[in-house]
Amino acid sequence: MPTVQGAIPHHIAIVMDGNGRWATRRFLPRLAGHRQGVESLRRCVHACVQRGVGVLTVFAFSSENWNRPADEVSGLMDLLAKALTREVPQLARDGVQVHFVGEKSGISAQVREGLQRAEAATASNQRLVLNVCFNYGGRWDITQAAAALAARGEPITEASLHAAMGMAHVPDPDLLIRTGGERRISNFLLWQAAYTELYFSDRLWPDFDEAALDEAIADFAARERRFGQTSDQVQAQQPGSLRA
Ligand code: IPE
Ligand code: IPE
Ligand code: MG
Repeated sequence: MPTVQGAIPHHIAIVMDGNGRWATRRFLPRLAGHRQGVESLRRCVHACVQRGVGVLTVFAFSSENWNRPADEVSGLMDLLAKALTREVPQLARDGVQVHFVGEKSGISAQVREGLQRAEAATASNQRLVLNVCFNYGGRWDITQAAAALAARGEPITEASLHAAMGMAHVPDPDLLIRTGGERRISNFLLWQAAYTELYFSDRLWPDFDEAALDEAIADFAARERRFGQTSDQVQAQQPGSLRA
């Protein structure tokens, strides 16, 4: 584990990509990759709890993933519903509070109820907030927030938009990891990632283990976040700095 104080990002977001390729390379059906992806997520959640990460946000199903073959879509839905039910006791033991972020319409009643039950059963847990972005798209989130404000006749400001979006209950991500080798956002947290540090790993999501997570965290710890300021300004604000 990195030893630098403050080096652990408070909020990590992950585009869990590469399940399909993981399976195809083993001559397995793509769904076998998604199943392995759930195992990887379980390991990652536990690792984040152990490392003192406060919020973990994962991209599980995008607005555009409906365009996949029907059997893959239904397989993914089924997998999620089952995993949620199965994992609740362990999530509770780990102190994980689950939130579902995404468009609820369009999801089957079975999956929606599973998500709601997981949220209700973990609502009082305090160690880690786990946001599961499901039927989620950054554009959808911005649009639904603007539409909600307009419907209520409220002014559109940065603060009001932020408050109407799906991630209003947590601070913006500090570190966004994408596995699977692609260097793109794919409609993930478009608004919230304005100043997030991006980290791309060539590992496929099922292979992304604790050591890979620690590498990402160490990479993050070595960066200087400037938020538009100069490096000199940032360094002057560091605790223990002699510079005014
Ligand atoms: C990511 O893995 C999981 C979901 C999109 C649900 P993919 O299924 O996109 O895996 P690849 O990119 O085809 O390997
Ligand atoms: C992004 O992965 C969505 C999730 C991981 C849920 P995709 O595999 O759908 O992204 P593209 O299509 O390669 O951009
Ligand atoms: Mg993919």
